[in-house]
Amino acid sequence: MGRDTLPLLLLFLLLAAAAAAASDADAIHDRRLSGSLPPSLSTLTSLTALQLQGNHLTGDVPSLARMGSLTRLALDSNAFASLPPDFLQGLTSLQSLTMDDLGLLRPWSIPDAISTCSSLQTFSASNASIVGAFPAVLGSLESLRYLRLSYNNLTGELPPTLGQLSAMESLQLNNQQSEEKLSGRIDVVAAMKSLKLLWIQSNKFTGPIPDLSGLQQLESFNVRDNMLTGVVPASFTGLTSLKNVTLSNNNFQGPVPVFPSVQPDVSSGNGFCNKDKNPPGPCSPLTTTLLEVAGGFGYPYDLATKWTGNDPCGASWSGIICNSSDVSIINLSKRNFSGTISPAIANLTRLVKLDLSNNNLTGEIPDVLTILPYLTVLNVANNSLIGQVPKFKPSVNLLIDGNRFGESGDKQGGGGSDGGSSSSDSAGGGKSRSNTGMVIGIIVAAIILFACVGLLVRHLKKKNNMEKFRPVSTKTSPAESEMMKIQVVGTNGYSNGSSAVPTELYSHVSAATSANIGDLFESHGMQLSMEVLLKATNDFSEDCILGRGGFGVVFKGDLNGKLVAVKRCDSGTMGTKGQQEFLAEIDVLRKVRHRHLVALLGYCTHGNERLLVYEYMSGGTLREHLCDLQQSGYNPLTWTQRMIIALDVARGIEYLHGLAQETFIHRDLKPSNILLDQDLRAKVSDFGLVKLAKDTDKSLMTRVAGTFGYLAPEYATTGKVTTKVDVYAYGVILMEMIAGRKVLDDSLPDDETHLVTIFRRNMLDKEKFRKFVDPTLELSAESWKSLLEVADLARHCTAREPYQRPDMCHCVNRLSSLVDQWKPTNVDEDDDEGESSEMGLHQQLEKWRSDDFTISDSDTFSSLNMPRKYN
Ligand SMILES: *[C@@H]1O[C@H](CO)[C@@H](O)[C@H](O)[C@H]1NC(C)=O
Ligand SMILES: *[C@@H]1O[C@H](CO)[C@@H](O)[C@H](O)[C@H]1NC(C)=O
Ligand SMILES: *[C@@H]1O[C@H](CO)[C@@H](O)[C@H](O)[C@H]1NC(C)=O
Ligand SMILES: *[C@@H]1O[C@H](CO)[C@@H](O)[C@H](O)[C@H]1NC(C)=O
Ligand SMILES: *[C@@H]1O[C@H](CO)[C@@H](O)[C@H](O)[C@H]1NC(C)=O
Ligand SMILES: *[C@@H]1O[C@H](CO)[C@@H](O)[C@H](O)[C@H]1NC(C)=O
Ligand SMILES: *[C@@H]1O[C@H](CO)[C@@H](O)[C@H](O)[C@H]1NC(C)=O
Ligand SMILES: *[C@@H]1O[C@H](CO)[C@@H](O)[C@H](O)[C@H]1NC(C)=O
Ligand SMILES: *[C@@H]1O[C@H](CO)[C@@H](O)[C@H](O)[C@H]1NC(C)=O
Repeated sequence: MGRDTLPLLLLFLLLAAAAAAASDADAIHDRRLSGSLPPSLSTLTSLTALQLQGNHLTGDVPSLARMGSLTRLALDSNAFASLPPDFLQGLTSLQSLTMDDLGLLRPWSIPDAISTCSSLQTFSASNASIVGAFPAVLGSLESLRYLRLSYNNLTGELPPTLGQLSAMESLQLNNQQSEEKLSGRIDVVAAMKSLKLLWIQSNKFTGPIPDLSGLQQLESFNVRDNMLTGVVPASFTGLTSLKNVTLSNNNFQGPVPVFPSVQPDVSSGNGFCNKDKNPPGPCSPLTTTLLEVAGGFGYPYDLATKWTGNDPCGASWSGIICNSSDVSIINLSKRNFSGTISPAIANLTRLVKLDLSNNNLTGEIPDVLTILPYLTVLNVANNSLIGQVPKFKPSVNLLIDGNRFGESGDKQGGGGSDGGSSSSDSAGGGKSRSNTGMVIGIIVAAIILFACVGLLVRHLKKKNNMEKFRPVSTKTSPAESEMMKIQVVGTNGYSNGSSAVPTELYSHVSAATSANIGDLFESHGMQLSMEVLLKATNDFSEDCILGRGGFGVVFKGDLNGKLVAVKRCDSGTMGTKGQQEFLAEIDVLRKVRHRHLVALLGYCTHGNERLLVYEYMSGGTLREHLCDLQQSGYNPLTWTQRMIIALDVARGIEYLHGLAQETFIHRDLKPSNILLDQDLRAKVSDFGLVKLAKDTDKSLMTRVAGTFGYLAPEYATTGKVTTKVDVYAYGVILMEMIAGRKVLDDSLPDDETHLVTIFRRNMLDKEKFRKFVDPTLELSAESWKSLLEVADLARHCTAREPYQRPDMCHCVNRLSSLVDQWKPTNVDEDDDEGESSEMGLHQQLEKWRSDDFTISDSDTFSSLNMPRKYN
């Protein structure tokens, strides 16, 4: 139903305030938006995407707590002062949150409320003034696939809960700016089986590379500038998926790692045993053995800085004393080591004294140590050793006090299990999807996405429709709320976009009316006084509310007995420039008036108040009559009714295209923008994207705006807009009227999703086509014939090449001959009198403002996929 392109006017109001310096839309092109966000943002409860990146927005980010439909939120590269206290609360649908390079004046910590964003897949907050300990709450976001928290002031260790993020594909925690940086061991990444990218460079992580053999998709691994230690394990070097490995400036030990297919950056700043040799051979057996001993303790940093190179008997190897190139004493007393005693010590056959006392060692004393022939002292006092003390020769002086011998020998693993121990992880990580979508999303453009009024409009319409039948509810159910988006392209170099300022101007006038309203407007022009509107809406009484949108509230009004819809735009976002724009827009609206274009009745500016008054349409949208019957409760339209509607629309568009003094291009024709009165006569509405084509250039290059499914291919791919863009969309609407289905229906199999494709295909086969036609149509032989003609027209209108499509006047001619032959009496009162100024009503419309991008019908934001719909 009415995914009407929202009241871009309201959006404009925001932008007008925001782009205070920009006196017209084009000026916004080349400067970034500045200003602040209105607190009322949160009233856009059905907004699905809010993308504000790349502007100069300042002030506090208002509460977003009510935007439960929001799936994408992008705040990157702005200059906000602070985030709201309830940040991330209530954003239960959020899938993507990006807020990189956010120079917040006030640092913040990731709130626990993020745990309610259980669908979150992308969280990117690099250089975003985050302080504090690494948030353990992130471990609860099991959908998370992309996490980027680089360039913040995070501290502390990676919480073990992160291991639950088995869908994680990209983890970037690099370059923490705080003094402490991130520290501790990185064992938890071993559980992220889908990981493709791990960037944790420039931190203070310690310990060895864990067993990553389960990360079969790992491609990029950057741990440069940390304090990682130990021997680079074979479970890591053996990963065939690796493409980029950076290990430099750590404290790795042992042999220089050799990767089958990557040229790693490992050389500098590590303690490899053989890095000066060419080719680098293995380490000496003594080095190898002692590194295994160190591995038992979890490659402690203290040892890693000293046990480097290939000469354990050299001066640097602290705790080691040799007797003619063999280790005779190991004294690692009081080092605060944890971990276990490695059985590799048994290979040090010349060992005389082993002092590991006053540490925090766990596990058992390995039996194999009893074979050491020269051992005289074994001091393991004051640790946490368990199990049985092996039977040493009597010549060995055993010091074992201060342990937990006798306690159960279930090995605890402890923090110091060596590199390859914790491999209960089964290999072969889960399937992972690429994160390109998200990358694309970021690249796309700086955009403001606003949505709201489908809801508002629908409510307005619905309410009005339903008043007669059911109790009226003014509350919006989020479940049925429309997914609508309007993006306003900011400027950060990605696009030429600027602001879009379409307004949803909505209304309906029952034709036979209102001399008195006419008088009212006549005497005041289009400008109405505040008093009149206050009276009409009973002082904007709550009872009169038809719906709410982010930028205003729509009231039902009663002007001298005539129902109107009054939209009260949100004040506070309107500057004087905004006022000029507002009036300039209304000026454009005056230029197009037609029986089949919905009209703006008037407006009011009063202080900060901006009010728009429209006719009041009682018959709902064509969409409701075609595809949303169950919801709307309408009966299916007959073929005759459909043809009359088609003709009405064709006439409205024909007028726009040429009969007005200038050429206007609607750019967003679709059934939800076609409004019906109680006689089921149609008017085209929502001129939010209307583009005025100068006589000289009837083909313009613009940024694509419109709705998926209705975008002509050349327009979608090149942005070239001509009147044939509307003809294409019109053809699509004809097809929808014939088939009784939406142009894009995701519930159908892939090859049937796109109506235009399948319609054209089915037309080749009469029998198939007959089944394809809307089953609710009861067609006589004659109406079948007429349907086939309209189908042919629809096919013609949706021709791939613009020049192959007919002009709108051709459509009018063909349809009117069919309709005349049908029900001449029903239509003859209708003609093309261009300026139907009965009542002096002015047609609504609003000025197309800029390069904008509206996607109203797509439930997911994927603008880059758009052209593919046609290929
Ligand atoms: C961080 O963001 C600020 C803007 O907020 C930008 O000026 C700065 O260059 C960014 N720093 C990094 C390291 O990206
Ligand atoms: C982060 O830490 C650096 C260095 O201690 C400091 O200069 C900077 O102000 C901190 N930033 C924040 C947002 O706390
Ligand atoms: C590897 O990283 C370097 C810089 O860090 C980059 O230029 C290169 O494209 C990367 N290669 C691959 C295959 O990702
Ligand atoms: C070194 O080892 C020899 C026997 O191999 C022994 O006689 C000598 O006492 C040892 N020296 C020291 C300082 O332990
Ligand atoms: C080990 O070194 C400590 C001092 O750090 C010393 O008190 C202790 O006696 C030494 N142990 C042996 C067996 O030499
Ligand atoms: C000993 O190690 C533990 C963790 O293993 C650490 O919390 C403690 O601060 C260390 N104590 C000393 C004196 O280094
Ligand atoms: C001890 O050394 C032998 C060969 O010198 C080697 O095969 C064995 O793996 C080593 N044992 C340990 C536990 O390192
Ligand atoms: C020993 O390790 C345990 C856990 O591994 C820890 O709770 C305890 O504080 C440590 N003791 C010392 C003295 O470091
Ligand atoms: C074990 O610790 C106690 C007190 O903590 C100390 O008195 C004792 O000397 C220690 N034992 C050894 C062998 O260092």
